[in-house]
Amino acid sequence: MRMLVTGGAGFIGSHLARRLAAEGAQVVVADDFSSGAWTNLVGFKGDVATCDVAADPALLRRLGPFAVIFHEASITDTTVMDQRKMMHNNVEGFRNILDAALEWRSRVVWASSAATYGRLPAPNRESQEPAPLNVYGYSKLAMERLAEQVRPRLAWPIVGLRYFNVYGPGEDHKGRFASMIHQLAKQMLAGRRPRIFIDGEQKRDFVHIDDVVEANLLAAKSRESGVFNVGSGSAATFNRVVLELNRVLHTSLPPDYIENPYDFFQTWTEADLTRSREILGYNPKVDLAGGIDAYFASGKLGK
Ligand SMILES: NC(=O)c1ccc[n+]([C@@H]2O[C@H](COP(=O)([O-])OP(=O)(O)OC[C@H]3O[C@@H](n4cnc5c(N)ncnc54)[C@H](O)[C@@H]3O)[C@@H](O)[C@H]2O)c1
Repeated sequence: MRMLVTGGAGFIGSHLARRLAAEGAQVVVADDFSSGAWTNLVGFKGDVATCDVAADPALLRRLGPFAVIFHEASITDTTVMDQRKMMHNNVEGFRNILDAALEWRSRVVWASSAATYGRLPAPNRESQEPAPLNVYGYSKLAMERLAEQVRPRLAWPIVGLRYFNVYGPGEDHKGRFASMIHQLAKQMLAGRRPRIFIDGEQKRDFVHIDDVVEANLLAAKSRESGVFNVGSGSAATFNRVVLELNRVLHTSLPPDYIENPYDFFQTWTEADLTRSREILGYNPKVDLAGGIDAYFASGKLGK
């Protein structure tokens, strides 16, 4: 079966592309290499197209048809304030993907974000009225609304996945947008105290990449359209992350608490997984300690 993974040079897309190929699919990666890393694709043996899905719909069309499209391509720097750039890349890119899916009769699974929740009280449920705090979160909300408009004309259910804080090997290229698990480990491996915002009690739902890949595979078989939370289902504080990292790295570095410069910072995110469990059959398996152990064992934690 032919499958397209957009954003396949990125963190999540490259894991997905390798997994789909390992399961026997004929996978094409489309990525404009604006933020991804070719190093993520060294083990991937399929076709890699250098394609900006927002700017080059003609090349996108030449790659098809595909039975399934996994759309991960996006600007993932959440501090980009250039509205035109963010909206064009994320929303118009998605519009091109949906146009192609209509023509090819493809299934579409695509990446939304927990950023659509903003500061809404946790645990976050899909029924909450979205309240993004930045244009990145708004672009994902606009994509959700676009998907809803196109849904009746698509051949198959379309599923958007609201990822929470994904972590695991292959995210180093994301720099300060890599997971805090990776960033703090990097500081600690350099012998520095881990810098976190005062008072370290902010909570995040950290979800391991293996669970996120699994959620995508389940979404590709969903009988229902919609947007679904993809998290671990529980939140951990940054202080707890530092504890786990000290354990696995055999260090004893206390947090270095710093002022928070962001006015759009989420203080507590946590996925309510009721709908994802019921409708997609999603059942995350990796807890924080186990996920950090596995990351360390991969040799890529903080590297
Ligand atoms: N990692 C997380 O914690 C997280 C959380 C919520 C949502 N998401 C979403 O998941 C998806 C994957 O994120 P990631 O963490 O792998 O980020 P990433 O930056 O590693 O991957 C995104 C990829 O998309 C590519 N890209 C960007 N614009 C493109 C375009 N117009 N055409 C083709 N390729 C383009 C980039 O080069 C990059 O390889 C994104 O849609 C992101 O918004 C991620």
